Amino acid sequence: MDDITKRITDIHERIKTALDISKTERELEQARLNFLTRNAGLAQLLAQLKEFSAEQKRIIGPLLNNVRDQVFSLYEERKKQIQNERHAREQKRSELFDVTAYQPGVSYGSLHPYTIVGQKIEDVFTSMGYTIADGPELEDEWHNFDALNVPAHHPARDMQDTLWLTLPQKLMRTHTSNVQIRVMQERKPPLAVISSGRAYRYEATDATHDYMFMQTEALLVAENISVANLLATIKVLLQAIFDRSDLNIRVRPSYFPFVEPGMEVDMQCVFCTDGCSVCKYTKFIEMAGVGMVHPNVLTACGLDPKKYNGFAFGFGLTRLVMLRYGINDIRLLSSGNLEFLTQF
Ligand code: PHE
Repeated sequence: MDDITKRITDIHERIKTALDISKTERELEQARLNFLTRNAGLAQLLAQLKEFSAEQKRIIGPLLNNVRDQVFSLYEERKKQIQNERHAREQKRSELFDVTAYQPGVSYGSLHPYTIVGQKIEDVFTSMGYTIADGPELEDEWHNFDALNVPAHHPARDMQDTLWLTLPQKLMRTHTSNVQIRVMQERKPPLAVISSGRAYRYEATDATHDYMFMQTEALLVAENISVANLLATIKVLLQAIFDRSDLNIRVRPSYFPFVEPGMEVDMQCVFCTDGCSVCKYTKFIEMAGVGMVHPNVLTACGLDPKKYNGFAFGFGLTRLVMLRYGINDIRLLSSGNLEFLTQF
């Protein structure tokens, strides 16, 4: 009998100590598992009750119940206390929390190479009095072809593999030359505009081809404009982009239905002086399609070709950017790849 009362006092003491020394919710939970569950010390003592006589039970029973009530309320008290302490600590920490002190690996944005070169082009042209125009990428057949002197069934339509839409007579523009038409329809000469934007071709994609690429178009319509004006303009542009005032160009005859005469402009290779793989050992790099605006184009836009003339040229902004930065895969430009983009 004495033995059991001693065991009860013992376990009471041990539980109190275990609860007292628990500093965290986790430690308290461990103490609960050790002492206060069904299989733990106190419950085992309670289970032994039935071995005692009724008289003994009358003494031990209340004693055990009392101990049990005490330790459970001590446990609840301790639990509350520990939670309150934790809340107080969290409260304190949030009061001291300085959001401006938290700088998780700061990363800055950068301009896309299209933007960098595009802005440079705009700077050069606006300094010469040009304005910037824009036109739709989803275009109709007339603005992309007919008005540019490329009637239906003209073989020149095959020069550009067109992405036709299921909408009648609608396509993704194959070049930025549609902007020439839109500008001439809207405004009267003298006109000097440039326009950069996306163009689309029905093409398989590889390192040098994409179904979408960027072009820049320039158009000047006024009176008495000459081929010399055209060549001087494109030369100034290329010299500015590549930051070389001695950069030379050469001109080869070519054919585009919307210009007459039509030419292609090559620029001196910027990577070598006597031939390399970029210029395919020709020392020149193909840059732009150029020419004097065809009278049929002026007429289609309601301008009198006897009074006005002008020049137009178009070049691959994508190609220019790739050359300017030595980018060897066109797909990188629209990849959204940050490792690539943050280099600029
Ligand atoms: N639009 C032509 C092309 O995409 C380029 C060009 C523009 C040629 C203006 C001459 C004049 O190839």
